[in-house]
Amino acid sequence: MSGFAGKTVFVSGGTSGINLGIVRHFAAAGAKVFVISRDPQKVETAVEGLRALGAEAAGQSADVRQADQVEAAVARCAELFGEIDILVSGAAGNFLARAEKISSNGFRAVMEIDVLGTHHVMHAAFPHLKKPGACILNLSAPQASVAMVGQSHVCAAKAGIDMLTRTLALEWGPLGIRVNSVSPGPIADTEGQRRLVPDPAAVEERVNAIPLKRMGTLEDVAELCAFLASDRASYITGTIIPVDGGTTLNPTPTRMAKFLDG
Ligand code: HXC
Repeated sequence: MSGFAGKTVFVSGGTSGINLGIVRHFAAAGAKVFVISRDPQKVETAVEGLRALGAEAAGQSADVRQADQVEAAVARCAELFGEIDILVSGAAGNFLARAEKISSNGFRAVMEIDVLGTHHVMHAAFPHLKKPGACILNLSAPQASVAMVGQSHVCAAKAGIDMLTRTLALEWGPLGIRVNSVSPGPIADTEGQRRLVPDPAAVEERVNAIPLKRMGTLEDVAELCAFLASDRASYITGTIIPVDGGTTLNPTPTRMAKFLDG
């Protein structure tokens, strides 16, 4: 596979989970990949792993909440690999807590990682984006449109990300930059799932509520990203595309569905 040969891909939060799956997919398709996350050890491990697969890869530790750190990382990426073709903003924060239990600092942490972080990544990358032709993918979630108990902070943050997507698609469309949100549902073996659905019985209930009756995979998400970043999607911008097995069509927990069914 070499569909992205010579392309430069920058991914925030790209050292683990869904984001690393996206990075691996682009790398396997020939792209040069640059990853950032807060933990320098995670950056080192991810870059080593990518290089072991034969990828041209580099990274830098940066906290997406800090504009100067993001700017430095994006500049390093451009210095090493040239103009950025594909920008993925994937860094996210999450924990399960009812609104009355979330401190101001806890709410701020998630809003800053998700919303401010997405702004920082797009803002810092703007001078380095290939114009025309660049594609931006912001990682959203079903929480952006479906209210979920224990997720007020995440629902607010992901809805904010989607409006950044739509607004920047409007502002940057004339420059030939496309901006879309990718909205993964429950994806197996990810930190997000472990945090949101911690016990096995709840996982089974979760899967039963998904119309396609299975958890998603890293490849499910990466395939959507690869499509959106390709020329085949050259007329698609400002959209929020779910890759969730229909999860958002059936947000009612199974327990409630059983009750309704009598
Ligand atoms: C209540 C909590 C908490 C919890 C942290 N806080 N965990 N409050 N319940 N379980 C509060 C802390 O008490 C603190 O407030 C504040 O949050 C900041 O915590 P710190 O640990 O000091 O900060 P920091 O390490 O910067 O950030 C915390 C964090 C981060 C946001 C929770 O560790 C994080 O994001 N981890 C998760 C990474 C992750 O899972 N990523 C995937 C996201 S999946 P006080 O007031 O005490 O100072 C996703 C979509 C899922 O986004 C969709 C699936 C369908």
